[in-house]
Amino acid sequence: MQTQTFKIAVIPGDGIGKDVTAEAVKVLEAVGQKFGRAFQLEQLPWSADHYLQTGVTIPANGYDTLREFDAIFIGALGDPRVADNRHARDILLGTRFELDLFVNYRPVKLLHERLCPLKGRGPKDVNFVVFRENTEGVYVGIGGRFKSDTDQEIAIQEEINTYRGVHRIIKYAFDHAKARGLTKVCMADKSNAMPHGHALWQRVFREVAPEYPSIEPTHYYIDALAMYMVLDPGQFQVIVTNNLFGDIVTDLAATFQGGLGMAASGNIHPGQTSMFEPVHGSAPKFAGKNIANPIGAISSAALMLETLGLGEEAAAIDAAVLAAVNEGQGTQDIGGTLGTREVGSWIARELLNAEG
Ligand code: NAD
Ligand code: IPM
Ligand code: MN
Repeated sequence: MQTQTFKIAVIPGDGIGKDVTAEAVKVLEAVGQKFGRAFQLEQLPWSADHYLQTGVTIPANGYDTLREFDAIFIGALGDPRVADNRHARDILLGTRFELDLFVNYRPVKLLHERLCPLKGRGPKDVNFVVFRENTEGVYVGIGGRFKSDTDQEIAIQEEINTYRGVHRIIKYAFDHAKARGLTKVCMADKSNAMPHGHALWQRVFREVAPEYPSIEPTHYYIDALAMYMVLDPGQFQVIVTNNLFGDIVTDLAATFQGGLGMAASGNIHPGQTSMFEPVHGSAPKFAGKNIANPIGAISSAALMLETLGLGEEAAAIDAAVLAAVNEGQGTQDIGGTLGTREVGSWIARELLNAEG
């Protein structure tokens, strides 16, 4: 029987994106070795450095190139030398839009009580997922500036909400809950202040919820959601919200897990080439210093394998990450003493040595 080869595009990007991607790759190689899986990892150089050297953010056929892979892994994009963030828009947001990766899947799972800044909260209180709409909202870049850089400047940034876009993410959130036997889906919007765009979210939520009688639909305005997430995170199982709100609340939620360095994400279009990346950015001040926590990136690699149908392999990564956290084998941000590379090596070794 011929082994299936998984072709994965790897874009380390900028800053600590490079540092943490190297560790995710190390762990993927360990998975390949342990489970006899063939991962063909192809590194693509798209980054701030590449843009500043060539003037190209992503080549003309870049998105088509990406579609030929089974999955895409990104480290982080963002560099102070590119003030308008153009390369990140083309590479990161461009991939989300052009590959129509409408599900931004951001699990929020606390691995150890010691990592949570919320008083008295432990792993049983912090275990939910956020589904962030990933192809619309204010991220579409529609708008413009008139009389720019004068004191009469008018700046317009439109928020786009379509029936199709809102429907598919809300439905995905309910399907996820149903498939896992979960009982609650909470939608968050700002329909009290944004009665046009977010009335659509209200309408679609009311329309979809009755198709799932075993699931209780709940709603908070986004400001209240932020408050309840801190006060009582245990009430949440699945949260679904728009692109911008999802961006904001997942940084907040990352702190419950031990910080941005711990949070993983998937940018998914079911059945199509999807992209996986840690939630954090390029943290330029930590770049190249062997300081960044690689766990968000390594856990994103696990989400990638799960989405590729390699559930056992994904679980093996999660188990090795949990062991690292339980045994205090972490970077400084989570109270450890190891460097980025040492954590990656520890997790890879743990995975190889684990039984089963
Ligand atoms: P950031 O996530 O890069 O960093 C914020 C802070 O979080 C850091 O200073 C650090 O204290 C902590 N942190 C983040 N990742 C960490 C890790 N792996 N280990 C330990 N600590 C970590 O956010 P920022 O400073 O707002 O943005 C920096 C650049 O990254 C900007 O250019 C921004 O646009 C970009 N960015 C990119 C992505 C992405 O590629 N997906 C996400 C967010 C921000
Ligand atoms: C994220 C990031 C991006 C976003 C930035 C870099 C444009 O913050 O992936 O969470 O806002 O989506
Ligand atoms: Mn973000």
